[in-house]
Amino acid sequence: MNYVVVDTYEELSKKASGIIAAQVIMKPDCVLGLATGSTPLGAYKYLAEMCAAGELDFSEVTSVNLDEYAGLDGSHEQSYRYFMDTNLFSKINIDRNKTFVPSGIASDLAHEGEEYDKLIEGLGGIDLQLLGIGVDGHIGFNEPDRVFIAQTHPVNLDESTIDANARFFSSRDDVPRAAITMGMKSIMQAKKILLIANGQNKKAILEKAFSGPVDPMVPASILQLHPDVTVIFSEN
Ligand code: F6R
Repeated sequence: MNYVVVDTYEELSKKASGIIAAQVIMKPDCVLGLATGSTPLGAYKYLAEMCAAGELDFSEVTSVNLDEYAGLDGSHEQSYRYFMDTNLFSKINIDRNKTFVPSGIASDLAHEGEEYDKLIEGLGGIDLQLLGIGVDGHIGFNEPDRVFIAQTHPVNLDESTIDANARFFSSRDDVPRAAITMGMKSIMQAKKILLIANGQNKKAILEKAFSGPVDPMVPASILQLHPDVTVIFSEN
C-alpha cells in the first residue's frame, strides 16, 4: 500500500486529480469508479480545469459510481447522480450515456444491484476506483457488518453516516435512511484503488483500517488485501 500524507486539502486534490488524469491518458477508454462526498470535490475541480484547457479528454471514458440514496431520483439535488452531473460530468467532455450511477428509485434495489454488477462485469471491470472513507470505516456505503458483502446491495445507513451526511440536507430528518452501494467484489476487483481522506476526524479510522486487522466491522480494512492501493491523507 502506498500511503501518502500531505499538508493541505489542495495538495491532496492535486495529487488525486493527477492520478486520475494519468489513468485517462494511459487508457483513454478506461472505466473510472467514482465517489461523491466532500473529499473528491477539489480533485473534480482540477480534472474539469485540465479538460477545459484541452489537456485531458474524457470522450472515451466510462464511469461507474459507488452508490446512491434509496428513494432519491437523479433530479433530486441531494442525489448522487445530481452531484456527479453538477460537480463533474457537466464540466468535462464525458459522454453522459457512459456515466452510470445505481438507481435509488428502482422498485427492487436487490435486483438493481445484480444488474449493476453485470454492467460492471460487462465493461470489463474498473480500471481505477476512487474512494472516500466514512468515520465508521465505510467505503461506498458498505457499512460495518458481520461480513463483507460482495454484491451491489441495498443497505441501511449507520447513525454516524446519517449524522455526517446531514450537512448536505436541510435537516437530519431529510437524510435517507437507506442506500444502494457497490459491493466489495467490484471494488476489490478494480485494478487500482485511490482512497482520499481529509480532516482530523478521519485520522483514527484510517489507522484502524490500515494498521489494524482486516475486519468487516471496519469495511475499508479489506483494502489491505488489494495489491494496488494508494491512500492520500491530509489532516488539514
Ligand atoms: C460517496 C461514498 C462515501 C464517501 C464517504 C466520505 O460516494 O461512497 O463512502 O466517500 O462517506 O465522504 P466525505 O468525502 O464527504 O467525507
